[in-house]
This record gives sequence, structure tokens and C-alpha cells, in this order.
Amino acid sequence: MSKKILVTGGSGYIGSHTVVELQQSGFEVVVIDNLSNSTARIIDQIGRITGKKPRFYEMDLCNEAALRVFFRENQDLAAIIHFAAFKAVSESVENPLKYYHNNLVSLIFLLRFMEGFQIPNLVFSSSCTVYGQPETLPVTEQAPVKQAFSPYGNTKQISEEIIEDSVKASPVNAISLRYFNPIGAHESGLIGELPIGIPNNLVPFITQTAIGKREKLMVFGDDYDTPDGTAIRDYIHVVDLAKAHVVAVERLLRNENEHNFEVFNLGTGKGTSVMEAILAFEKVTGMKLNYEITGRRMGDVPQVWADTTMANLKLGWKAQKGLEEMMTSAWLWEKNLAAGILES
Ligand code: NAD
Ligand code: UFG
Repeated sequence: MSKKILVTGGSGYIGSHTVVELQQSGFEVVVIDNLSNSTARIIDQIGRITGKKPRFYEMDLCNEAALRVFFRENQDLAAIIHFAAFKAVSESVENPLKYYHNNLVSLIFLLRFMEGFQIPNLVFSSSCTVYGQPETLPVTEQAPVKQAFSPYGNTKQISEEIIEDSVKASPVNAISLRYFNPIGAHESGLIGELPIGIPNNLVPFITQTAIGKREKLMVFGDDYDTPDGTAIRDYIHVVDLAKAHVVAVERLLRNENEHNFEVFNLGTGKGTSVMEAILAFEKVTGMKLNYEITGRRMGDVPQVWADTTMANLKLGWKAQKGLEEMMTSAWLWEKNLAAGILES
């Protein structure tokens, strides 16, 4: 049986970590990425970690003609893991069509080619953003999908609907993975997140502040109805998340899926406040972080964390790494970036 997997967005943050885990589990990996939010140096770094560089196609998934050529050359794919998408929430509010075009057209082309070339399995990157602020916590996969706050979030909801409808009418099987908050980096310090410009997310902002690229972290609100007043999220180590993709692919390859469209939450099942995250960073680095409490950020939900029972039972997967490991690896990566690891 073919063990060849296409990873779209494979030079990006979560994609690159997943390529490493796939290769280390014996899969052959090919990557498509247009480098709109990453660099080809990450492909070299993957090679340094695993001893094998994945075959890399620098290509835009919205280019139908180029994709056709790719699929003609790669008809033996066993599965596709589709990470490639734009993901900046605020940019999606300013430029919604850029997001709808990139995130939806790429998906539709992929699904069409999967049908045409009989590629049977798809794993899709979704997000806990589809739940908004859930009525009950921890949030299960049965919780209703709320109206999206941003065009980005809406692309995830629409993508899930497109996949669910299209697999009903085709032999393709799909798993949608709803990530909570991925943070951290590979323990080697050779790959990690590459936020372009000013980071929106908490942990890159913490590490950039600590390294001196930013003056201080703004903590968005300490008046939430939470134990310390700051907002709560379910932070998950990116390597744990990457491993979940390997087991999701294996479930599909072994035909163990119970439906042709399945959804799993991927988190630790544990909520962490912004202040707890800062304290964990200070503990593992021995540094004092410069931060200031400021007003709430528009659109932020007060608290959300995952019920991971489904992933535990059906995928046989459970997050292993704790907050301190997440912070230690994120800090090692920030220091390596500052030392020019991607430039040498
Ligand atoms: P990322 O930006 O690091 O990686 C995405 C990659 O896709 C980039 O390398 C980019 O160059 C590529 N890409 C984008 N559009 C493309 C196109 N049209 N053709 C080819 N390549 C294209 O993002 P990430 O954090 O690794 O996220 C991966 C996926 O997970 C995305 O779908 C994202 O929406 C989803 N997700 C991320 C988070 C998070 O917090 N990072 C949370 C939930 C869901
Ligand atoms: N925060 C700060 N200061 C910052 C950045 C973040 O206090 O400078 C706080 C936020 O207010 C929030 C928490 O840190 O309470 C986490 O914020 P992130 O931006 O890191 O993560 P979000 O949960 O807001 O958003 C993330 C992704 C989105 C995705 C969402 C749900 O960035 O793309 O998870 O999956 F939609």
C-alpha cells in the first residue's frame, strides 16, 4: 500500500512539524507550499532533523493548471493533509476576499483532483474558533458551530461544510481536526513558528518581547470572569498536534473511520490563563517579562478549552507535553531565530 502523503502548507508552522513526524513514522512526504507565509529554508531544516528532505513543490494551490501537473506526477498518493491557508484573523477582516479566495478555492481544487485522481483520504486543519464562546466547558465536538466572528473563522466553517457535502458524493474519506491553541516548537530548535510582522498570538509576542524585538506584552484584559481575570485557552504543543495528524492518517489508511466525515478536537483538555502562561515562561527562562494589563481585545472569547475524549478514544491520541515544555521550546526557537538559524 502507498505510504506517500501530500502535505500542503508543509513549510509552514504546523505543517513542518507534521512532515517531521510523518517521516519519522515511515511515510514518504511531498510538500506543496507557495511560501506566502514561510521559507524554503524550513524544508532544509526538516532534512536536518529527519535525515531526509521531503520533495518540495513551490506552487500555489489556487493554480489549477499547476496542480493538474502535480497530480499527474503523483497519482500514488495515499492521503492529503491540507494545512495551506491564510490565517491572520485581523487581516481577514480587512481583506475578506483574499481569505475566501485563497482558503476556499484551494480546497475546492484539491477535492476535485482527489476525486479525479482517486486519492481516497483527506485530513483538514480546522480550528476551535468554530465554537465561538461555547455554552459549556470543556467543549465537545457536539457543541454547536457559532456564527464566525471573522472571515478567517468563516472559511474554516465553510470548508468543513464543503468537505462534508463533497465526501457524501464521492469515495473520499475526511477527518477535520479542530485545533485549540498550538504553541511551542520542535525540541531540536530547528523549526518553529515564523510570525511575519507583529505577532497577533500570545506566545510569539512573549518570546519576541523577551528577546528585545518588542518593548512589552500587552495583556488583553484582566476583568474576565476567570480565577485571575485573564482569558483562558487550551494551549497545545505543536509536536503533540503534529503526532495527531499521523494517527488521523493511519486511521483513514486502515479504514477505521466510522463515518466518511469525522471531526476531532485537538487540545490538552486543560485551560491556561494569560497570566499562567506568562508565569510559566518566566519560570523556565528565569527572566522577568515586561508586560502591562490593557483593555480586552475585540472578538476574544473569555475562555475555551477542549474535551478531548473523542481523540483519546478513537484516535488513541493524547497530548503529552506540558506548558513548561511548550515555553522552553518556543524560547529555544526564538533564540535560534535571533542567532540567524535560517540565514546561515
Ligand atoms: P502557516 O501560515 O505557518 O502555514 C500555512 C502554510 O500554507 C504557509 O507555509 C503558506 O506559505 C502556505 N500557503 C498558504 N496559502 C497557500 C496556497 N494558496 N498555496 C500553497 N501554499 C499556501 O500556518 P499554520 O499555523 O501552520 O497553520 C496551518 C493550518 O492550521 C492553517 O489552515 C490554519 O488556518 C490552521 N490553524 C492554525 C492555528 C494556529 O494557531 N496556528 C489554529 C487553528 C487552525
Ligand atoms: N493575548 C494577549 N496579548 C497578546 C496576544 C494575545 O493578552 O499580545 C491574549 C488574547 O487576548 C487571548 C490569549 O492571549 O486571551 C490567546 O491569544 P492568541 O491570539 O494567541 O490566540 P486566540 O485564541 O485569540 O486565537 C487563536 C488563533 C486564531 C484562531 C483561534 C481559535 O490565533 O487563528 O486561536 O483557533 F482562530
